[in-house]
Amino acid sequence: MRIGTLGNGLMAEALAGQWAREHEVMIGGRDPGRAGELARRIGAQAGTLQEATTFGDVLLLALPAEVAVEAVGELDVPPGRILIDCTNAIDQQNFTLAESAMAERIARAVPHAHVVKAFNLAADAVWRHPPEDLAVPLCGDDPTALAQVGRLVRALGCEPVQAGGVVRAKLLEATAALAIGIWVTGGDARAMFPPLEAAFGSVHPG
Ligand SMILES: NC(=O)c1ccc[n+]([C@@H]2O[C@H](COP(=O)([O-])OP(=O)(O)OC[C@H]3O[C@@H](n4cnc5c(N)ncnc54)[C@H](OP(=O)(O)O)[C@@H]3O)[C@@H](O)[C@H]2O)c1
Repeated sequence: MRIGTLGNGLMAEALAGQWAREHEVMIGGRDPGRAGELARRIGAQAGTLQEATTFGDVLLLALPAEVAVEAVGELDVPPGRILIDCTNAIDQQNFTLAESAMAERIARAVPHAHVVKAFNLAADAVWRHPPEDLAVPLCGDDPTALAQVGRLVRALGCEPVQAGGVVRAKLLEATAALAIGIWVTGGDARAMFPPLEAAFGSVHPG
């Protein structure tokens, strides 16, 4: 797989750093020095945002949410590209959403790409060393794109979970805001959910 990143920050490093072990990666950045520095560190190539967009069959959109829609809309994205959207538009004061439906807005900005929302529920430090049983929800409309992103999830040692179409990505975005707001006050967001076998009621002994 050829992977291009849009951005050379923490998420690009955490995710593409692992994918570069088995895939061809181009780090795309607005500053050649910063993109080149990350690329050297993880064993990838470096280029501009446009060069990475042209290079990758799969694109990781790892820009701040406030610039992501406009930045991606300015790129010439070849038809059929798989665009992973990991953005979180979170208001860090109240842990609410500063912008809603990022993935849908991104999908409208690049109508010929297959957008998959993924990797927005955990911090970059988690993606560098994911816990063994971490599930990664994916929201996207194209089955082939979902399968490809699923391969990239498994490359991290995680398990993909089909979470619906792009229209449901806004729920993942809200879930990130909710979970982060709980984690920063010392609560365990993961403990809120019952295991699958008890999801619709308690399991009765005998
Ligand atoms: N970090 C996390 O734990 C985490 C977890 C889940 C989701 N996310 C989401 O992932 C996305 C990326 O986060 P990050 O932590 O990787 O951010 P980051 O470390 O701050 O990196 C942001 C990248 O975006 C580039 N950039 C900023 N403004 C730009 C502009 N106007 N035009 C072009 N490029 C621009 C920066 O380029 P320069 O280096 O040239 O400044 C940098 O490469 C965000 O949407 C964030 O909400 C982050």
